[in-house]
Amino acid sequence: PRHLLSMADLDAGAIRTVLDTAAQMHDVQKREVKKIPTLRGRTIINLFFEDSTRTRSSFEIAGKWMSADTINITGKGSATSKGESLRDTVRTIDAMGVDAFVIRHGASGACHQVAGWVDAHVINAGDGTHEHPTQALLDAYTMERRLGSLEGRHVAIVGDLAHSRVVRSNLISLQRLGAHVTLVAPPTLMPSGIGAWAERDGFALSHDLDGVLQGREGKAVDALMMLRVQKERMSGGYFSTAREYTVGYGLTRPRLADLVERNPEIVICHPGPMNRGLEISADAADAAQSLVLDQVSAGVAVRMSVLYHLLAGEDTPTVGTTTEGS
Ligand code: CP
Repeated sequence: PRHLLSMADLDAGAIRTVLDTAAQMHDVQKREVKKIPTLRGRTIINLFFEDSTRTRSSFEIAGKWMSADTINITGKGSATSKGESLRDTVRTIDAMGVDAFVIRHGASGACHQVAGWVDAHVINAGDGTHEHPTQALLDAYTMERRLGSLEGRHVAIVGDLAHSRVVRSNLISLQRLGAHVTLVAPPTLMPSGIGAWAERDGFALSHDLDGVLQGREGKAVDALMMLRVQKERMSGGYFSTAREYTVGYGLTRPRLADLVERNPEIVICHPGPMNRGLEISADAADAAQSLVLDQVSAGVAVRMSVLYHLLAGEDTPTVGTTTEGS
């Protein structure tokens, strides 16, 4: 089987293939009759142990529009609440003869483990603080639609880097597509070891959001990605007050005005869900430069593309990674 567990599974050519197919799927999405027969007879299990609005529903819509049978299982409603292990849960469902698992789990690496336990394809829909590859694909797709090629573009990713699986996947995809990336966060929200990581992979780090936005620390910013402050993964001590965080690292109304004055073509992204008033002001979330809803729309097309490449025409593998021995 082939899986999508990490953005590292896709080289630049494979990313391009997925994004090009997504563009075709986006056309399907705009049609009055959206359903295509591509995945007729396939069964896709959305297995979500963490909450989700965008990812789960867009995978379900993507599967349904391609005529697959999609089934949603959540941690709360499954036998895991009676103590069944993740391994037993996925092996049980796999034994029913399903074709793919789309998995979100609170533990980093959970999807890799599942890929070793089942015969079906596994797609990582977010594992702990590790990765969220389809989010990175839809982000790249959305930015490219507005900016054209990302080659040589400067993308700043701002906020709660310590807990962000989105940033890990985006770093890989953006760099493979030729973008320069700067990560901006307070020291308390930088993951440990990030300095060595930045040196190895060639991205920039800063604690000075205004310096980055004003181009004082290098190239002007073409796209700004604000990350959600993940309060559910924090036990306190990351910043003293919400106000302090917003003043230092939020895309506030004055920061937005300054940014748009410098570059009216600036692109603003947020993976969602947004904490309006904390990392992003309502003005910025709803600004003409905000692509938040374009990202959501692209999510369906990108997930149709991923399902297509993993599940349709399985004899002619296109993208993804292989689990040896399964
Ligand atoms: N961006 C994202 O993964 O959102 P959900 O948690 O709603 O799926």
